[in-house]
Formats: sequence, C-alpha cells, structure tokens
Amino acid sequence: GVSDAEAQKRAAGEAAAALVENGMVVGLGTGSTAVWFVKSLAARRLDITCVATSQRTADLGAELGLKIAELGQTAEIDLTVDGADEVGPGLSLIKGGGGALLREKLVWEASRRCVVIADADKRVQTLGKFPLPIEVVAFGHKTTMLRICDALGECDIGVAPRLRQKDGQPMRTDGGNLIYDAACGRIEEPAALAFALKSVTGVVDHGLFLDLADQALIGTPDGVTILEP
Ligand code: A5P
Repeated sequence: GVSDAEAQKRAAGEAAAALVENGMVVGLGTGSTAVWFVKSLAARRLDITCVATSQRTADLGAELGLKIAELGQTAEIDLTVDGADEVGPGLSLIKGGGGALLREKLVWEASRRCVVIADADKRVQTLGKFPLPIEVVAFGHKTTMLRICDALGECDIGVAPRLRQKDGQPMRTDGGNLIYDAACGRIEEPAALAFALKSVTGVVDHGLFLDLADQALIGTPDGVTILEP
C-alpha cells in the first residue's frame, strides 16, 4: 500500500502538473515528490520544453518523453515545480536533502514562478530541524567547514556540520562538490544565516530558499491545500 505521505506527495505533484499549459518552459524539481510531478506532467503529452534540476530528473524526464533543454538555452522558465525538506513561515524553505540544491536554486532563480509541492509533515513553524545542506568545493573542504562553524556560531547555532556520505565515500553532487549537513535545530533568522554562509569562501550554496517560492501545494489527509507567502 501507499503510505499517507506518499499519497500526499502524489496528490500535490498531480495538482502542480495541472498548472502547466502548452507552450510553457517548465522547471523540473528533484526528489520523491517531484517524481510524481514529472510523471503526471509527462502523461499529459503537452507541447512544452523542460529544464531539469538534476541529472537524475533529466534522465527520468527524457525516459518519459519530455523535451529536456539546458538552463539558459530556452526562453525564460515560466514555472518550476519542486519539492522541499521543510516549508516554514512565508514559504521559506530548506531544500537539498536530495543533494541537488545548487542546480535547483539556479533553476528557481531563473523562473518566473516557483511552486513547491510537499506532504503535510514538511510544514514547520521554524526552519532547522532538518539538517541544512551546505554545498562546498572539495578543495580545502575541512577548512571551509571550520569557517562554516564560525558562520553558524555567529547566528547562535553551534553544531558541527557532517560531511554527507554515499556508499562509504564522500558524496559528490552533480557539480562535483561536497555537501555538509548542519543540524541547526532552530534557525531563528534565516536571512542572516543565508548571508553569513554565502560569505564563506568555498561555500557554493546552501539549502535555504528564501523569498523564492510563490505558492505551495501541500498534500493533506483532506486534499491539497494552497499556501501563499
Ligand atoms: C533535492 O535536492 C531536494 O531539494 C528535494 O526537493 C527535497 O529533498 C525533497 O525531497 P522529497 O520530495 O524526496 O522529500
């Protein structure tokens, strides 16, 4: 059987696919919720061009018959639909649990409209329970991590970030970088933290998506709820 969360993810993904119209350029998210969107979108057989936020999603889209183009090689992206790890106040988000945060943010920022899709458990009052993914260049990454600790400390959050592993090796992103996951606990001032992290040399980007989502479609036991910032 399908778990509640899975049914909610599916309902949100299908609702988002219904927003797409012929002729659009569409950004495709990454993760288990975005997969529902991509499948549902492909099933509609529309005349659209898609830009993917990861190699994984590009492969899935192509396999399902969607036309996939590179970022910057299409007209402006009309709509991007993607999942999130946490959906907080004002549709502030933590993303990157799937490791695709950099390409996701590049595509989101290039989109006229961004819709986040999630199951009800992802909604939080304060961001930070989900460890914040921070993408860093591999060269000197331990040194960079120490400087990240300083940045976190300045924001009153003091837990050592963990280097993400896959199959016993440091996980590499699509861009060949590494990811540290920082268990912040509570991020009271996301904008200040976002700024402090981006100021560290060697940090490529982080999973805080602030002022980017225009709408959220949240799957709940009572159907799909629409949230605005
Ligand atoms: C991928 O890097 C992430 O940003 C995902 O969007 C996020 O982790 C949500 O994934 P699920 O839809 O699998 O929960």
